[in-house]
Amino acid sequence: MRKWFWGFLFIAFGFVCSIAAERNPRTERISGSAGDVLEDDPVGRLKVYVYELPSKYNKKILQKDPRCLSHMFAAEIYMHRFLLSSPVRTLNPEEADWFYTPIYATCDLTPTGLPLPFKSPRMVRSAIQLISSSWPYWNRTEGADHFFVVPHDFGACFHYQEEKAIERGILPILQRATLVQTFGQRNHVCLNEGSITIPPYAPPQKMQARQIPLDTPRSIFVYFRGLFYDVNNDPEGGYYARGARAAVWENFKNNPLFDISTEHPTTYYEDMQRAIFCLCPLGWAPWSPRLVEAVVFGCIPVIIADDIVLPFADAIPWEEIGVFVAEEDVPKLDTILTSIPPEVILRKQRLLANPSMKRAMLFPQPALPGDAFHQILNGLARKLPHQKSIYLKPGEKILNWTAGPVGDLKPW
Ligand SMILES: *[C@@H]1O[C@H](CO)[C@@H](O)[C@H](O)[C@H]1NC(C)=O
Ligand SMILES: *[C@@H]1O[C@H](CO)[C@@H](O)[C@H](O)[C@H]1NC(C)=O
Repeated sequence: MRKWFWGFLFIAFGFVCSIAAERNPRTERISGSAGDVLEDDPVGRLKVYVYELPSKYNKKILQKDPRCLSHMFAAEIYMHRFLLSSPVRTLNPEEADWFYTPIYATCDLTPTGLPLPFKSPRMVRSAIQLISSSWPYWNRTEGADHFFVVPHDFGACFHYQEEKAIERGILPILQRATLVQTFGQRNHVCLNEGSITIPPYAPPQKMQARQIPLDTPRSIFVYFRGLFYDVNNDPEGGYYARGARAAVWENFKNNPLFDISTEHPTTYYEDMQRAIFCLCPLGWAPWSPRLVEAVVFGCIPVIIADDIVLPFADAIPWEEIGVFVAEEDVPKLDTILTSIPPEVILRKQRLLANPSMKRAMLFPQPALPGDAFHQILNGLARKLPHQKSIYLKPGEKILNWTAGPVGDLKPW
């Protein structure tokens, strides 16, 4: 091995040790308005009406496959449960600011547990047909004061492959609604302006149970577990993760600073708490549960996903807690990370230690003040009052019910 490499290693390990030696970083308050926004209480600022739908749109689907409660799109289920007993719920639709339609559109899993979105468009259409014919509120605005939780890869574009998702676009009848979705990327057809970007679901109790003592040294420099290639869906390579994950593997598989592998160990959560940097590269979509895991476990997220729009970006200071690396700069990841000054790393760690930030990333049961449910409500409250222009004139129609792929028009 060449001499410069050992020199590099020596410097890098000295660096790891100096960071690791700083035990139990104190918490630092988030500066500016973000910290205040994070602690906002939505109660009293909005009223939500929950449509009562036949259980075939929600509870029955879940009964068929309880695995839907633990996959990364489970927010659509927990949000429904949360709203049913939330103080912002109103039983009087006449006084509602927002209308919510509880559909578990992504609870359709393959035998191996992958959620498929192919039935979602027909299901959502069917539900909207029902609410628009049974209540007067949809027709008043054609959905502009309605919100939908659409946590699939590309939100209401309902496809896991970006190319197909773009081709489909947002389901035409959801064009005026506010979409609460995990997908976020600037200037993308699957992100409407005014959407609320949320964290994916990660199991709060399981994560809580795996906390290790806060003063455990962070002896891993860079940590990542997950796919580098998706040979089943992308046999030729280069399409999955736009090649960024493949580049991580090709460049750093033999670099001792990088603890990276496809093997998911049972100590995954513990390992993240022993790491300084956790890679959060795009996969099929720009986001992944690693964003949540990194924040909860105090591991600095290294975000590799050009133009990503991050969850609750008006409340979480992502620029300050994370490191952003352009997809094309992946081959320089080692020098980028080793040249970050220790005091910058320590500040990020102190910010990450802030409990309100962790809470905002999670959907706990029961809900807690400041958690992800509350951040969603805060986002909806900040959009009030609605502009007068959302209300249509009698008989006025803007949405096109017959637009979109013919297959989506079949009854559900
Ligand atoms: C809303 O509009 C649709 C389509 O124009 C119509 O079929 C439906 O009856 C209307 N709903 C109500 C409650 O009037
Ligand atoms: C609605 O969309 C369909 C399919 O794209 C199109 O054929 C039809 O002309 C559209 N209707 C209106 C009123 O724009």
